[in-house]
Amino acid sequence: MTARVTNIPHAQHACRVVIDEDFAGLADALPQALPHPVRRAVVVTDDNVAPAWIDPLKQALDPLPLEVVVRPAGEVHKTVDAWRDLVDCLLDFGVDRQTPVIGLGGGVTTDLAGFAAATALRGVPLVHVPTSLLGMVDASIGGKTGVNHPRGKNLIGAFYAPRLVWIASTTLSTLPDVEVRAGLGEVVKTAAVGDPELLEALTTGPLDWPTIIERCVQVKGRIVTEDEHEAGTRMLLNAGHTIGHALETALGHGTLAHGLAVGLGLIAEAQFAVREGWCDDPTLPDQLQSTLAHLGLPIVRPAMNFDVFKAALRADKKRAGASLRVPLPTRAGLYRVRSLNPDQVERLVHA
Ligand code: GLY
Repeated sequence: MTARVTNIPHAQHACRVVIDEDFAGLADALPQALPHPVRRAVVVTDDNVAPAWIDPLKQALDPLPLEVVVRPAGEVHKTVDAWRDLVDCLLDFGVDRQTPVIGLGGGVTTDLAGFAAATALRGVPLVHVPTSLLGMVDASIGGKTGVNHPRGKNLIGAFYAPRLVWIASTTLSTLPDVEVRAGLGEVVKTAAVGDPELLEALTTGPLDWPTIIERCVQVKGRIVTEDEHEAGTRMLLNAGHTIGHALETALGHGTLAHGLAVGLGLIAEAQFAVREGWCDDPTLPDQLQSTLAHLGLPIVRPAMNFDVFKAALRADKKRAGASLRVPLPTRAGLYRVRSLNPDQVERLVHA
């Protein structure tokens, strides 16, 4: 496979996103992407990913000296304590501002490694090697880093762009099926907001992973280039998330994978947009439903505690003053952030 490259021109520096089959080309790409000679690196990974992928990564980077930090896997470990432990490790290793931190894993690992890289010594170079579909198409792209706070997800963090994102499609081979489907929820979202042809192709298929990932990276790259710090356009990437987050809360976190909740959110939000007269294409909710069903994602909401759902929706973090700001479709590939008044929020609750 020929490597596919997308460059994202972040404010801090450009980020090169390479999609290849394996890690073989990483040894050459690493020094090219970094401003200083690379004499050693720190790899941050978790205990799910390490058994399968740390050895292939080490072999690919040999003879570069590597320190490896293996963290416990899972969202519950994306905490301030985990961040401090990781910074302790980096300081124990005596890293300097030329020592790259390589996040090897899913979104939890790359968010945590990214925040440690952003903050240790006020910033050491960052490289992501995402191994989950969600990480490849979303979490590792665009420079968001951070950890959770007891009051909510990702409430502590920094915009800190990686220099290089190396996507080895072979790592998807060890990804559990539910995580593939969760990643596909974000793929459908990305296609819905920025690539209607991809949305169509996802239903009619077959598509190969490198093509799906590349198209998503390109959409996200365009959006992040326009609005890195989420003042406007980047909020479109939250499509499906307003309903999706409320569903996750109402069902109990961890009951429904995030990407599956986003898929259900996309359908409900599109139905709401049609009813409000904001969506020019009344067939979009059906199209989203068929695409998600074709990809094996749920299209019917599980039974849930409706009071908790309503409360979560009203408390959504994108609330600005009295209104709730939600990305909603005008048609496939064209979403707009709308400010909903309290009556509209009530109707969204029942969408
Ligand atoms: N995951 C949404 C964003 O990066 O803005």
